[in-house]
Amino acid sequence: MAQNLKTKVRIREDVKSMKAYTPTTSLDVFAERLGLNVDTLIKLDANENPFGPSPKVQETLANLQNMNIYPDPESNRLRDLLSDYTGMPREQILCGAGADELIEIILQLFIEPNDTIVNTPPTFAMYGFDAPLYYGQVIDVYRDENFDLDVPAIEQAVIEHEAKLLFLCSPNNPSGNVIPHETMKRLLDLPTTVVIDEAYIEFAEDDSIVSWVNDYPNLIVLRTMSKWAGLAGLRVGYGIFPMDLMSHLWKIKQPYNVNLAADVAAQASLEDTSYLLGLVDQMVAQRKRMVEAFAELPFLSPYPSESNFILNKVVGMGADKLRDRLAKEGIIVRYYNKPRLHDHIRISAGTPEQVDKLLAVLKTLA
Ligand SMILES: Cc1ncc(COP(=O)(O)O)c(C=O)c1O
Repeated sequence: MAQNLKTKVRIREDVKSMKAYTPTTSLDVFAERLGLNVDTLIKLDANENPFGPSPKVQETLANLQNMNIYPDPESNRLRDLLSDYTGMPREQILCGAGADELIEIILQLFIEPNDTIVNTPPTFAMYGFDAPLYYGQVIDVYRDENFDLDVPAIEQAVIEHEAKLLFLCSPNNPSGNVIPHETMKRLLDLPTTVVIDEAYIEFAEDDSIVSWVNDYPNLIVLRTMSKWAGLAGLRVGYGIFPMDLMSHLWKIKQPYNVNLAADVAAQASLEDTSYLLGLVDQMVAQRKRMVEAFAELPFLSPYPSESNFILNKVVGMGADKLRDRLAKEGIIVRYYNKPRLHDHIRISAGTPEQVDKLLAVLKTLA
């Protein structure tokens, strides 16, 4: 009997052999691992807002009511505020538990077994990680040595594989560079749906292309409250979609995907945008300061960034060694060891005090 039951437990073969996604580690785990007090840690590994959310969020959450009632499945008030913020009609906005969830919902909507998505690594890992879980095939078209797109190769891949989706990230994580608008227009002429992830657009000089959704029936734009608004822990993202997709998206999304705390916190943030965009300016100022200081160090070669983080090639010492030496001082950065990113680290913009400490430690290593 026991034997019979055992043979009936049959999980997917591809999941058995897949590699796990490596998320950021919690501060408590880091503190324990490093033997340091959690309050002394400087977390610069996940592009979070080091200043925290708006004080209005703290106040709203302290007074949170109706936790026994399911949240609004349509996030109506939040979508109204997002409509004001983006200038796009609320009917074309769908909210999710982070932009991460919207990536999954898009794959659920488009991908049938063995359909193809085109991905442009090095980029945000979630597109390539999620697609196979929804039975999509991933075609990687690598960026060049400056992390710019290989446009002719993308065009060829989309056409040859009849790709259902092309995922683009601008500013790109982890390289920090933007895709020129002319390039986006060229790629939007392809016979595929283009998902442009603007998770970091608030930090960029370039304007958002969200209004282009009015002109291109094949454009989806993803945004998040995690970075600029400091709500990474609450999980709120949103997408702006062509109107024709909306009724289908509503059919497939989980009804209560945006929880009550996340919903009201995002609303409070959108009612305090001038405060939060002031913090964005401070993060950009710190990023500029960091790039200049990194460029002076013999072992770091920073790439220009339009975001709230800086990718660096580490020269003359292993990037893992540098990561470990910073960790010893309680400074956590993101280390990469994969194609095109061997010996690279990414460091998020911190508060002025955090950057003071980071630069002081780095100077001792020079
Ligand atoms: C480019 C990009 N898109 C999306 C996300 C996920 O955002 P969220 O926290 O809203 O799920 C991230 C998070 O790091 C990101 O870097």
